[in-house]
Amino acid sequence: MDHGKNEFTSNESLKARRDLALPMGLPSKSGIYAARAKGAELWDVEGKRYIDFIGGIGVLNVGHAHPKVVEAIKKQTDDFIHTCFGIAQYESYVEVAERLNEITPGDTPKKTALFNSGAEAVENAVKFARQITGRPGVIAFAGAFHGRTLLATTLTGKSKPYKVGFGPYVPAIFHAAYPDAYHGVSIESALVSIDHILKVMIRPEDVAAMIIEPVQGEGGFNPAPKEFLKALRAKCDEHGILLIADEIQSGMGRTGKYFAFEHAGVEPDFICIAKSIAAGLPLSALTGKVDLMDKVVPGSMGSTYGGNPIACAAALAVFDIIKEEGLLARAEAIGAKMEARWKDIQSGVGKGAIGDVRRVGAMCAIELVKDDDASKPNGELAGKILVEARARGLIITTAGAYAQCIRSLAPLVISDAMLDEGLDIFEAAVGAALEA
Ligand SMILES: Cc1ncc(COP(=O)(O)O)c(C=O)c1O
Repeated sequence: MDHGKNEFTSNESLKARRDLALPMGLPSKSGIYAARAKGAELWDVEGKRYIDFIGGIGVLNVGHAHPKVVEAIKKQTDDFIHTCFGIAQYESYVEVAERLNEITPGDTPKKTALFNSGAEAVENAVKFARQITGRPGVIAFAGAFHGRTLLATTLTGKSKPYKVGFGPYVPAIFHAAYPDAYHGVSIESALVSIDHILKVMIRPEDVAAMIIEPVQGEGGFNPAPKEFLKALRAKCDEHGILLIADEIQSGMGRTGKYFAFEHAGVEPDFICIAKSIAAGLPLSALTGKVDLMDKVVPGSMGSTYGGNPIACAAALAVFDIIKEEGLLARAEAIGAKMEARWKDIQSGVGKGAIGDVRRVGAMCAIELVKDDDASKPNGELAGKILVEARARGLIITTAGAYAQCIRSLAPLVISDAMLDEGLDIFEAAVGAALEA
């Protein structure tokens, strides 16, 4: 079978064209130019095969080019491609909203509006929280990543590279500590840091919302403990502050439940959803409690492309696939297998190189350190492992403040055999990187 090999092009020749045509500010770490992808595999333009433990950064829970997604997209393109939902409406948009209202955490009735990207869902959540409460303040968390628009960048809690030289930022946004047992941030101290903000920097009655990733993605797959999310809910309720869940990376089945907030039994007021909702098509959603969503001033919500019909068709296929293929249970099984193998590797490598192995469902990460010391991040080793893995046919990426974590977002449709093959490559890559 031709796996995409093209006689006339190579990764190197495309890189040369890319370097001339594209700005260097765009990320291009891997040097891989894709020709074709299916399930949990990807082939580059030279025909080299990779096992994909990134999934387009958490976008492909149902895998590359799932046949049902492809069929749904093709059918929709035959019918119509775009009308703008505000001009001529269509059933698939309504159905995506109905399905999200059904599966998002909590019993309170919900409503959903659709947008294009994760950042746009976040922007809208914060805008609506401000409009509804009439308050300006927002509390976000250290280590958070919420996107690259100016407001989402302001909310993001990692300065380099995301916040370099883009200021001044949106006013009235504050960052509290995110609980992180491995780095010595207890639940209590994280809660104290919120109280400190509310005491010293802004009055609670001026705060519209708190926004949190229940498991930080870019931040290093740090899970917020249940007790913390419960305490956050209580604090919000005490002060009339809205709680926004950013489930853009942790949602749509990645953690073994549709949404990671479910693990804590906590109901947020707004939920931002994107990435794996539409298997690679640009679609995001803001789902919120009915009484809040209906308070948004008519006309102050909208988008030309938001809820595009092709993306909605793909999303409807995704909901079916997750159910039919039991992907929530599969996420837990994949995560358990990966964790066990990574713990074996951790004890095998010695030298305290892998300081931590952690996961929620299939959101799995290891943290590379020196001397088994959490305060000595080893981003250099993580980078070397990525290079060695890629050379052996596995793509995987980093996370964390110092790019010292390696995270897996492998498609949930990956077979056990392919998962084992990927983990074998990973083990060999760790060994080679430690020797290099
Ligand atoms: C938790 C989280 N929020 C927001 C975003 C931004 O999403 P997008 O890149 O679609 O704007 C991301 C993207 O990585 C994310 O992981």
